[in-house]
Amino acid sequence: MKKIVTVITSLTLLAALGGCKPSASGWKSYSGDKTIEQRVDSVLKLMTLEEKIGQMAQFSCNWDVTGPIMADDFEPYLRKGLVGSIFNAYTVDGVRKLQEMALAESRLKIPVLFGYDVIHGFRTIFPMPLAEASSWDLELMRKSAAIAAEEASAEGIHWTFAPMVDIARDARWGRVMEGAGEDPYLGSLIAKARVEGFQGGKDWQSLQDLHTVLACCKHFAAYGAAESGRDYNNAELSLNTLMNYYMPPYKAAHEAGVATYMASFNEIGGVPSTASKFLFTDLLRNDWGFKGFVVTDYTGINELVPHGVAADEKEAGELAANAGIDMDMTGAVFSKYLKQSVEEGKVSEETINNAVRRILEMKFIIGLFDDPYRYLDKEREKNTIMKPEFLQAARETAARSIVLLKNEKSFFPITKDKSLTVALIGPMVKDKVNQNGEWAGKGNREQSVSLYEGLTEKYAGTNVKFVYAQGCDLTTDNRDGFAEALATARRADVVLAVMGEDFNWSGEAASRSDIRLPGAQQELLKELKKTGKPVGVVLMNGRPLDLSWEDANLDAIMEAWYLGTMSGHGLADVIAGDYNPSGRLTMSFPRNVGQLPIYYNHKNTGRPLPADNPKMDYKSSYLDVANTPLYPFGYGLSYTTFQISNMQMDKSSMGKGDKVTVTAEVKNTGTVDGETVVQLYIRDLVASVTRPVKELKGFTKVALKAGESKKVSFTVTEAELSFYDIDLKYTAEPGNFELWVAADAADETNQASLVYTAK
Ligand code: NOJ
Repeated sequence: MKKIVTVITSLTLLAALGGCKPSASGWKSYSGDKTIEQRVDSVLKLMTLEEKIGQMAQFSCNWDVTGPIMADDFEPYLRKGLVGSIFNAYTVDGVRKLQEMALAESRLKIPVLFGYDVIHGFRTIFPMPLAEASSWDLELMRKSAAIAAEEASAEGIHWTFAPMVDIARDARWGRVMEGAGEDPYLGSLIAKARVEGFQGGKDWQSLQDLHTVLACCKHFAAYGAAESGRDYNNAELSLNTLMNYYMPPYKAAHEAGVATYMASFNEIGGVPSTASKFLFTDLLRNDWGFKGFVVTDYTGINELVPHGVAADEKEAGELAANAGIDMDMTGAVFSKYLKQSVEEGKVSEETINNAVRRILEMKFIIGLFDDPYRYLDKEREKNTIMKPEFLQAARETAARSIVLLKNEKSFFPITKDKSLTVALIGPMVKDKVNQNGEWAGKGNREQSVSLYEGLTEKYAGTNVKFVYAQGCDLTTDNRDGFAEALATARRADVVLAVMGEDFNWSGEAASRSDIRLPGAQQELLKELKKTGKPVGVVLMNGRPLDLSWEDANLDAIMEAWYLGTMSGHGLADVIAGDYNPSGRLTMSFPRNVGQLPIYYNHKNTGRPLPADNPKMDYKSSYLDVANTPLYPFGYGLSYTTFQISNMQMDKSSMGKGDKVTVTAEVKNTGTVDGETVVQLYIRDLVASVTRPVKELKGFTKVALKAGESKKVSFTVTEAELSFYDIDLKYTAEPGNFELWVAADAADETNQASLVYTAK
């Protein structure tokens, strides 16, 4: 009975998704190149079952003084040619050592594919991805991924486990730092930019370039929906939510030609991703047409046992292989049990063959069969790492990722022509180790530029003077340094506090249930405020924080996230006004942790709270806090001001295949040049399923001189109006739409209506 129900459910679902095709028979190559296909098959024919399964195994290496080492359990596998991929090895010498180990004694001498978590830079560290997303500058993100690829490939790395494209709505989840935020539209464009940056473009041929790496779209799927923001937790979401909100960035990565996917740790609807045939075979391969290979996340197969869908690891391996997983990351389950499973008929040899073909194909594409050492060039390695132009790009990206959240009485910028003493207070002022944030490749933390270093260099020879006290540390309640900090503050004209989270407090396995500034930092701010001096804060942190107290009490708040190697310089550029901040949030900042998850594109509900009566009873609201975030999606200030006006549409009704042009005027109404992000939002008022109160459907970043105006223009087509409907069919339904050209998701100054006739 249980089986019948499962079959019916998945068939209905597939039909609904419009992808009801018979399961894949035969292999379709990623490249579509006949010569590569023949070469892959010619190798496959020579392989024993054990050797094939070996290609499906990936292990991590460790390091000691002599370079990378494999754990004793796995070195014999590597020597026998039973390892398809290794990760965590780097440097030309390190990778060469392991590649030689793999090729020396193995029968077929199949080269190993080397992977690494190159997430926001390899040696030159760029701002953490959520920070970089705040730049809303796709070319900037493409470029930083390309630089990361260049550095990583120069150290022998072929494959990065990035981009992470998980939509995230809950700031408690530490991994929000690694993604692009809460919006599927922006997240899709960023996914595309990053994939194209790593892979060198959309075509498989670009992967043959020694300066590119294979990208890995992760974590498929909906890892960002972890319940309560607790890492590795269950993701409880409907198919409607999955398809309309979470899937678009994963799909965009496929459309951008991503070579590989990584399975997520979570379950959806009772099925852990690693065992989900729906995700990997029915949707990803059969419906979308993905032809690269799929790797699990770390021990994802083994975890099917505690998840409770497999009695033991052998059964877990069978579930994963039959779901469409090609490579087992570190779990050793395929290596230990898959041969037996094939012999028992639990997994077909054709399933194994197809997985191995997909893996071998990538090795052929990147030229490893022609020369397993082709990436290993010591001269190139030396000349590539941390090149001056990479550092310059990192500095510019850092400045463009900063979001100015509050700025009263023109606290910022502190221009170089001023004559004043600034008290720099807090544990992040001289900090270097936290600047790179989590997942920071092989960036040397001691080499990152602290804010203190950045400011000292920037203001050298000026009348802006700095005095400093640390005041407290990042995490403890120790107040011993308060007295010195307060005395230092009293000697200054203004106080600039520099605070945040320890970098280990975000990233993997770093969820928080209290997202205020940790330790004694907020207490110190309260004391500093009592001095009566203007107090501003620069924040370095990996997630949206609860800044309600800071917003109500401080003069200025600058969100600097973790900006990477050039952090101090990028920040000093912005603090001094040499770069006018242009970052805009891509995740809502809550008023308190109780509002989470919070996101701008929420549903209206049957009892929406009227904006003009926020206390109305029996409406969907809280008794103790507003529904709105403290800072909405799309929000950010500048040292100048902008005004959007005169929104127009060339027609107010459109049919099938039509397009509507929406225009508006944006003016720099302040006294300095600056950039702003003009955003287009839509709302589908009535549909077969409830639709969000707002959805981003376009944006443009505009640079305007003081006093200058420009016309911005957006195009609305059926694509912008489409969604997965009540039958999970992707379509645009006829009806009325509201449109806004806005400064952020809460701005409703410029609004217009559109009718879509669908005819
Ligand atoms: C676990 C993480 O979830 C994943 O993102 C990462 O790529 C792997 N570990 C490998 O480090």
